[in-house]
Amino acid sequence: MKSETKIIYHEEQNVFHLYNEEVSYIMMVLPDGELGQLYFGQRIHDKEDFSYLLELAPRPMSSCVFPEAKTFSLEQIKLELPTYGSSDYRTPAVDILQPDGSRILDLQYEGYRIERGKPKLAGLPATYTENPDEAKTLIIELHDQKAGVKAEIFYTLFAVGGLLAKSVRYRNVGQDTLRLQRAMSFCLDLPDADYDWLQLSGAWARERHVKSRPLEMGIISIGSRRGHSSHEHNPFVVLKRPSATEQQGEVMGLSLVYSGNFQIQAEVDAHHTTRILAGIHPENFCWVLEPGDDFQTPEAVMAYSTGGLNGMSQLFHGLYQKRLARGYWRDRVRPILINNWEATYFDFTEQKLLQIAGKAKECGVELFVLDDGWFGARCSDHAGLGDWTPNQQRLPEGIHGLAERIEALGMKFGLWFEPEMVNMDSDLYRTHPDWILATPGRRQSHGRFQYVLDFSRQEVVDNIYTQMAAILGDAKVSYVKWDMNRSITECYSAVLPPERQGEVFHRYILGVYDLYERLTTRFPEILFESCSSGGGRFDPGMLYYAPQAWTSDDSDAIERLKIQYGTSLCYPVSSMGSHVSVIPNHQVNRNTPLHTRANVAYFGTFGYELDLNKLSAEEIAEVKQQIRFMKEHRALLQFGTFYRLCSPFEGNETAWMVVSPDKQQAIVGWYRTLNQVNADFTRVKLCGLQPDILYKNDHGESAYGDELMNLGLITTDVTAGEIPSDKKPCTDFESRIYVLEAVDSAQQ
Ligand code: DGJ
Repeated sequence: MKSETKIIYHEEQNVFHLYNEEVSYIMMVLPDGELGQLYFGQRIHDKEDFSYLLELAPRPMSSCVFPEAKTFSLEQIKLELPTYGSSDYRTPAVDILQPDGSRILDLQYEGYRIERGKPKLAGLPATYTENPDEAKTLIIELHDQKAGVKAEIFYTLFAVGGLLAKSVRYRNVGQDTLRLQRAMSFCLDLPDADYDWLQLSGAWARERHVKSRPLEMGIISIGSRRGHSSHEHNPFVVLKRPSATEQQGEVMGLSLVYSGNFQIQAEVDAHHTTRILAGIHPENFCWVLEPGDDFQTPEAVMAYSTGGLNGMSQLFHGLYQKRLARGYWRDRVRPILINNWEATYFDFTEQKLLQIAGKAKECGVELFVLDDGWFGARCSDHAGLGDWTPNQQRLPEGIHGLAERIEALGMKFGLWFEPEMVNMDSDLYRTHPDWILATPGRRQSHGRFQYVLDFSRQEVVDNIYTQMAAILGDAKVSYVKWDMNRSITECYSAVLPPERQGEVFHRYILGVYDLYERLTTRFPEILFESCSSGGGRFDPGMLYYAPQAWTSDDSDAIERLKIQYGTSLCYPVSSMGSHVSVIPNHQVNRNTPLHTRANVAYFGTFGYELDLNKLSAEEIAEVKQQIRFMKEHRALLQFGTFYRLCSPFEGNETAWMVVSPDKQQAIVGWYRTLNQVNADFTRVKLCGLQPDILYKNDHGESAYGDELMNLGLITTDVTAGEIPSDKKPCTDFESRIYVLEAVDSAQQ
């Protein structure tokens, strides 16, 4: 079978079977008219009758649907769009408050249609197809006549790999106002609970650490109520069989394409079935649906693999790199940049910036990025946000003049914005004090002395668009870093009526998406990098507009091992902003060797965040060499197939690698946190190579792919024995890069 999506409707049994070479997804219209879930997993043969998968039992204490039968209870049935209040007691996917105060729903199957490719989601980021053979979409329509609401569930199965995208659209088809109090994007009921749950969690400066635990009866739930996807929890989880490893076994990853408040949870019931739900966080959410109104949920993507965690990650990497990210930069290697933040913070003059840029240019850096502090009265974090006009004292000829000078040096110029924020000490706030999110009559909390603009209001988004477009249209700006440095509090919009205040968080993020869409459309060749105090909004929603994101404010190489390793579970190397910074490191005060700082940053977009003028001649020579290396290898590093090999969460060593699509080249990164005395012999088993190709590496060794994958690459350290006089002794925080090249068979 060539890679294609099949969607079969078995009319007699009312069964839908979506499948490709990898996975099958089977549903049926249940005897009570609702849509039931029968199977999701490795592909199975299609056949006429799958109704045997609807297992029913006369369980004591069950609440039953049909008067004459004791077996048909929704609490035992796997459902596609479950509701609460009839006989299913698990967490529902949808909750609608109706005019009579009732919340009971009965969403009856009404029909289906199939579309080639994938329809767009109005106003929301989503995966896409470039030609209609890449996927098929099944749209199933459900209808609750009494409430007057229709739900359309969208299932897109991509032709290649186990990738399923799902979302729901609600429409008020009745005469009354409805209140949508919960509208999850994704629900999957699984027949057992024999899974480990993995989540990417942490805090500012230690984002996306891998946390894992087995599923148990009850609920595991992660989410954000901060208005952004957050440092604390990423909108991504994994369910893996306990025996699955990085390289093999059944793994399902679930990722929500959304940047605002979210919730993902797993609920294991008394009979050990598991319900997975993902979507907008239902707390503080209530959307008023007037007759004729629609509500579109964000999209959730599930990646199913029997190739372990790496197999699942590679599915996400491919999809998010090629069919979520868009535009000019999607397939292009990323410029090597220098950012002045850690070099100067707010303390800079144009002359100082030009000195930093000049030295960077001499080393081969391609893009100079001016970070926070260039606008309005912004000399500290107390003032200026909202006033996107250059500070004439610091930049006498404005952004236009500075950008010209940087371009004259032979570099591109990039600029920092924090579009969603305002300081009270700003002209914008003085003119429009009601433009912030603030609950009337309540204390207004701040974060870093700043307040959040009400992006649910069109005129606010328009104002910021006009200010930003003026700068970007006037100066030669090739890159924008879009920051967001606080979470939302006292969330309330001055212009929405009381009953619509539950819409503000979602409307806010729609406003952010709108501004991104307008700017990326008007300036298609500008490279956008998203940021939120480091990695507080590192999510698929952002990747749709900005193909890279600042991974963390922690630039220490050893901290970054965990952060980048965790991030790679879902996100591709090309999306991870990674810089070499100064020592002692500004976040953890750690001294790491310069080569280790680069060896970690290579597995990302790569850049520098320090004043290179302060480095010794020897260090500058090393920096020049690093930049030459990155330029030579960045296509492979950023777009090759990425494998995690050794986890920093499990031991002293970390390793990962990338392999070229033709398997002729590979690059391995090996890192050891603490040095040891009289240490063990060590090897790392590589992945993804061609077994019968002989690879030579840049350390003068050669081995066949099967040797490297089965017995491993020898990484034993010289400090384990006597140190040869031509080698530097290794220290803590040691690392090595191995570049593997296939030896031409004629040379073997
Ligand atoms: C937080 C970002 O993560 C930093 O890189 C820097 O841009 C600062 N904000 C500037 O305020």
